[in-house]
Amino acid sequence: MAGKHTRIVAVANEKGGVGKTATVVNLGAALSLEGWNVLIVDMDPQHNTTSGLGIDVEDDGLSVYDLITNGAEYAAKEAICATQWEKLHLLPSHIDLSGAEIELVDEAGRENRLREVLSQVADDYDAIIMDTPPSLSLLTINVFAAASELVVPCQTHPYAYKALEDLFDTISDIREEINPDIRISGIVPTFFDQRTKISRDILERLQTDDRYKDLLYDTAIRVNTTITDSCDQGRPVVFYRRSSYGARDYMALAREFMAR
Ligand SMILES: Nc1ncnc2c1ncn2[C@@H]1O[C@H](COP(=O)(O)OP(=O)(O)OP(=O)(O)O)[C@@H](O)[C@H]1O
Ligand SMILES: [Mg+2]
Repeated sequence: MAGKHTRIVAVANEKGGVGKTATVVNLGAALSLEGWNVLIVDMDPQHNTTSGLGIDVEDDGLSVYDLITNGAEYAAKEAICATQWEKLHLLPSHIDLSGAEIELVDEAGRENRLREVLSQVADDYDAIIMDTPPSLSLLTINVFAAASELVVPCQTHPYAYKALEDLFDTISDIREEINPDIRISGIVPTFFDQRTKISRDILERLQTDDRYKDLLYDTAIRVNTTITDSCDQGRPVVFYRRSSYGARDYMALAREFMAR
């Protein structure tokens, strides 16, 4: 089912540490287990997604940085890596990506660099899942410009719930100025902890808030340290320990995602 139905997904939230990277790596891996051809794109100079897939960031290796700053010289395929898992490819990050914003400051069309790069390969994949840094930088804007949809991880914590408003404002600006076609396809509750009242309360608020309830995934990603362990081992949790809560939650999320 590759071709024009390729789902091009930004995973974003300006708030840090809400589970963006965990969602990119594990939703991507879970979709590949379901038989989809998946390309993961790491647009965060912190490169946690790249390491989380067991790929070393090499000083002289090609990365998304080279493609967006020097696209005339390199084809997207040259920078895409296979991973240890069939059907799961990666366009890696590089530390130099943090300088891309300054390098591109005078370039026309700088918001659309990633979009142009991905148009070369989109037909090869069923989904392209893109990680973003926790800020509204040129890198994040490139991801929004390339995306057809946005998945928003939201920690079940009061600050994260509050910050959703700002994110929704940002997205309406993006729709007006950069990409009229981007839609919010889902909010994923993360770090859910059934034992704490605040976590249960915030989930309930998300479920009843008219602004968010129709977008909310039924699957909440529970707090599960196996997710961090698997990341440290350079393996998505669905390949690291299939019986863990983390693996089960991300598999359930993938099935919901496929159905939307
Ligand atoms: N469901 C979870 N349970 C426990 N730990 C988790 C869970 N999801 C993510 N983590 C861990 O919490 C930390 C932050 O998660 P993650 O890196 O995915 O967030 P992020 O939004 O990408 O952060 P940043 O904004 O810095 O990019 C990481 O150490 C990650 O392994
Ligand atoms: Mg991250």
